[in-house]
Amino acid sequence: MIPFAKPIIGQEEIEAVKRVLESGMLAEGNVSRELEKQYAKYTGTKFATVTTNGTTALSTALEAMDIQPGDEVITSPFTFIASANTIAMIGAVPIFVDVKPDSYNIDPDLIEDAITDKTRAIMPVHIFGMPAEMKHIMEIADSHDLQVIEDACQAHGAEVEGKKVGSIGHVAAFSFYATKNMMTGEGGMITTDNEDLYDEILMVKNHGRGKQGGYSHYRIGYNNRMLDIVSALGIEQLKRLPESVKQRRQNAQEFNDFLSEFDVIRPQVEDKGLKSSYHLYAPRIFSDKMNRDELVTSLRNEGVGSRAVYALPCHKQDTYLNIHQWRWAKFVNYPNYSKLSLPVSEEIGQKHFDIPIHPSLSTEDKEQIENAFCKILG
Ligand SMILES: Cc1ncc(COP(=O)(O)O)c(C=O)c1O
Repeated sequence: MIPFAKPIIGQEEIEAVKRVLESGMLAEGNVSRELEKQYAKYTGTKFATVTTNGTTALSTALEAMDIQPGDEVITSPFTFIASANTIAMIGAVPIFVDVKPDSYNIDPDLIEDAITDKTRAIMPVHIFGMPAEMKHIMEIADSHDLQVIEDACQAHGAEVEGKKVGSIGHVAAFSFYATKNMMTGEGGMITTDNEDLYDEILMVKNHGRGKQGGYSHYRIGYNNRMLDIVSALGIEQLKRLPESVKQRRQNAQEFNDFLSEFDVIRPQVEDKGLKSSYHLYAPRIFSDKMNRDELVTSLRNEGVGSRAVYALPCHKQDTYLNIHQWRWAKFVNYPNYSKLSLPVSEEIGQKHFDIPIHPSLSTEDKEQIENAFCKILG
């Protein structure tokens, strides 16, 4: 089976981790500072700080932005559930706004209608590595005095008009989970240009400690610190990222060209000015003869590691259908998510599937994938 992800771990990664182990300094320290410096440079942001994973990157940023219980945060329903959960975790209310049919990303034209006097922030998600329409989203946010937190957990290296994602919103979160374009097994990063927010983020992620360290604490915080062992891996992975994104984009172009032969398959569309980093390559099937699940099974029978990742968008997940059981429900009014109809994300949920796109795909792998489509779809 051609796997949907294949992390590249070379001798460089092994040596880097070994050096940290041999140094005996395992916790967040100088190696993490170096990764942060290099990541900030890569994304074109002033500040970056490591966290334990993408989830804590998002929740740390939301807390540092002082999002309060009952505040509303607008986000996409077509995402990994962590995006919404980090909002709900702190007592805020995820407000799901439908996505656009071709990009699968939040529809800026629908955001305005969802804004109320409780709205505090917008969390666009760059889904599968495809950047959301940040220019439009920032204009809406500016005109309503809202904060924007980019969920860039899947989008290392993606760009909007030449700017890397993570440098456009007020703050952004990245995940370094094992299957991501840049990975450390588990890990995360927050980027921002705002120094006050950065200072607050450092406190939230480290038990409210001030910059000077020591045992004076200034606010409630967590331990969302990263290990230097993990950051060492990150530094080596970051070196591979530009080439990896280039290769993913090349593979995507090849698949786009090939799949355009099939009327029933439509890829995720990259609008002008946007550059996806293709964490996943996820087209949709529109056929009377074969549904998505049958296609995924057939592809898997041909040795292609295909899946349908978000068959259920967030508002259709039990977590949100049963939100009245969540501890904050005593204090916060949630919408009745079961009454929510978000037809575009629901349709993409039914029709999308992904196929391997990672940079380790060989010419033979790509041929095998293409032959599988020919065999299945005729
Ligand atoms: C869109 C999105 N947001 C948030 C996360 C959370 O990241 P992590 O798994 O590192 O906690 C992920 C992880 O896959 C994600 O895909």
